[in-house]
Amino acid sequence: MKKTIIAPSLLSGDFSFAAEALREMEAAGADWVHLDIMDGNFVPDITFGSKMTADLRPHSKLPFDVHLMTADPGRHIDSFAKAGADYITFHLEAALHSHRLVMQIKARGVGAGISIVPSTPVSMLEPMLSCIDIVLVMTVNPGFGGQELIEMCVDKIKQLDELRAARGLNFKISADGGVNSSTAALIKNAGADVLITGSSFFNAKDRAEFVRTLRVQE
Ligand code: DX5
Ligand code: ZN
Repeated sequence: MKKTIIAPSLLSGDFSFAAEALREMEAAGADWVHLDIMDGNFVPDITFGSKMTADLRPHSKLPFDVHLMTADPGRHIDSFAKAGADYITFHLEAALHSHRLVMQIKARGVGAGISIVPSTPVSMLEPMLSCIDIVLVMTVNPGFGGQELIEMCVDKIKQLDELRAARGLNFKISADGGVNSSTAALIKNAGADVLITGSSFFNAKDRAEFVRTLRVQE
């Protein structure tokens, strides 16, 4: 059986102790660090940028999974690649030339991901599936932590899993938003490989136990 990747999001951590939050993720047995970049334009809130990401890089050995919730994502690719991102995911809805952006990311030696919001169908992504490393399915509307899973998005994970098998592709499917110990099984059974978890990770009393629970959910 494939190992599910658990990727806690710093978004729900205390930004004034961000390095400490990253150490807690690693100590809890998480696999990736998910970094939510919000620009106050594609989504209402603003989080942090490439300077913060570069400053955090020495504080964790885990891969940095950068999720750009920004307008004009092409402007940010080089700075986050330089900051030490292992994966950069941008939103299909924010990009005019997705293929060019994927090539730009890959040329920097970084894994390329594309995300779709709940209202965007999988069919919009189909031409790009053979060139990307990650499809990030937003299972809530982007912009905030702590929202409830939108169940119709789980069906998109299933569609992607089927397309992946039918076309012999090997991109990873990430689920982002409303992932917790009650929803993880549904999401994993639909075919997700990466579970991104913000509020439920930071709210867990025992974070190592929480990570173990998510991993073994069936
Ligand atoms: C939301 C972000 C998510 C967020 C998920 O726009 O992309 O990564 O951290 O938070 P939870 O797990 O609390 O839904
Ligand atoms: Zn995210």
